[in-house]
Amino acid sequence: MGRTFFVGGNWKCNGTSEEVKKIVSTLNAAQVPSQDVVEVVVSPPFVFLPLVKNELRPDFHVAAQNCWVKKGGAFTGEVSAEMLVNLSIPWVILGHSERRAILGESNEFVGDKVAYAISQGLKVIACVGETLEQRESGSTIDVVAAQTKAIADKVTDWSKVVIAYEPVWAIGTGKVASPAQAQEVHAELRKWLQANVSAEVAASTRIIYGGSVNGANCKELAGQPDIDGFLVGGASLKPEFIDIIKAAEVKKSA
Ligand code: PGA
Repeated sequence: MGRTFFVGGNWKCNGTSEEVKKIVSTLNAAQVPSQDVVEVVVSPPFVFLPLVKNELRPDFHVAAQNCWVKKGGAFTGEVSAEMLVNLSIPWVILGHSERRAILGESNEFVGDKVAYAISQGLKVIACVGETLEQRESGSTIDVVAAQTKAIADKVTDWSKVVIAYEPVWAIGTGKVASPAQAQEVHAELRKWLQANVSAEVAASTRIIYGGSVNGANCKELAGQPDIDGFLVGGASLKPEFIDIIKAAEVKKSA
């Protein structure tokens, strides 16, 4: 299938330059599987991107946590896709639920951002996921399908997209989705891609799981057939992130 395992570290709004340097030196010293087994991308806050990019080992890559929806200009406080490209930042996280919920980013706005970022040459970790209320009312698949559709409506080059399924109720709560719960949604998302985009895109697009992934639960999740990696928040700031990267070995032996 050729879906290289993908582990993203979302550092969110955390860190001082000293703390960031410490995390980078831990990552640089880590023994992890090679790049054909696992792709590792860490996402520091904007202000630390150049520092991390310069100091991080070359087999790990960096992502921004957001970028502006169109060409930069008179948009105070925003960072454009062009600027990220200018600094050779290859990846960007878009549509994270913390931005959808707190900053009111709609499905369409996220779709526009994903398409614009790709048009400028960035690769995108596009996040989808349901709230607890939506899960309890039985609308999980409809919600993630609508979020994915808004992206699919605007995107043609799926080789530049990793989908991160992150149930909102599992993010930062310590309440991880069970392997079966995650696998079910991943399989449905892949089916959705097959029916609405193409069989080839469904087979080749990485669908990664995010929400309270840690060193203890990563292996069992990685063993699920449609889980192609992780987007890790809290644990990506800790040395256990290395154990999460190593969960890629589970796929190799599968
Ligand atoms: P968490 O965050 O691992 O701290 O739950 C995941 C994310 O928001 O990407």
